[in-house]
Amino acid sequence: MSATSGWTVISGAQRDLDVDVLRRCLRLHRAVWPKEESEDTALAHWRDQAAAADSPLKSDEHVHRVEDGGAVVAFARTFRRVISLAGTPRTVLALASVCSDPRRRGQGLGRAVVLAGWARLGGASDACLFQTAVPAFYVALGSRPIVNPIRAPIGVRPFWDPVAMIHPGTVSWCDGELDLCGPGW
Ligand SMILES: CC(C)(COP(=O)(O)OP(=O)(O)OC[C@H]1O[C@@H](n2cnc3c(N)ncnc32)[C@H](O)[C@@H]1OP(=O)(O)O)[C@@H](O)C(=O)NCCC(=O)NCCS
Repeated sequence: MSATSGWTVISGAQRDLDVDVLRRCLRLHRAVWPKEESEDTALAHWRDQAAAADSPLKSDEHVHRVEDGGAVVAFARTFRRVISLAGTPRTVLALASVCSDPRRRGQGLGRAVVLAGWARLGGASDACLFQTAVPAFYVALGSRPIVNPIRAPIGVRPFWDPVAMIHPGTVSWCDGELDLCGPGW
């Protein structure tokens, strides 16, 4: 946990989060990406996901959040996924759901929550893989776009944002076919 300018960055395993924290994270998520379903329905879905957080497709999922005055003002998820890069299995750190409070943009909250996620790089996973519509935000943080052809198992959606990226941009990575070995995130 670290505190900056009155706000606090907190990271923890998703399975350990209590329902109040999950609800506050969900409120920010829904403010950024509005959904038709009710908050309670979405929360039940998130709790189911938390219970399944150690599936091979989403191993060791963590939630990173910035709290300020009891509100969650930035949020991101990370988990580990074994992908296949040019036919070779590789465990990457997956980054997803990065967002900050629309009323609080440009205050360093997005960067703080992403850096908290990347603190999990190392050991078995030296690269973080993610998709984005705002590549410039990540380039400024040292990431780089990748050009690999990307596929996923039949019937499963691979990435949908326009740019796939890795972090750090300097990590060893080849340009062969990238199989996500499961749904995109
Ligand atoms: C992208 C997002 C997380 C950035 O959050 P933020 O809290 O405004 O980001 P920060 O204040 O930490 O910005 C860090 C740096 O990135 C820059 N930056 C922020 N958004 C940027 C963007 N869209 N494009 C380029 N640079 C950007 C900031 O200017 C800042 O630069 P500085 O260090 O030179 O001042 C936020 O705009 C957001 O939630 N967008 C909607 C959801 C989304 O697109 N998420 C990304 C999914 S991959």
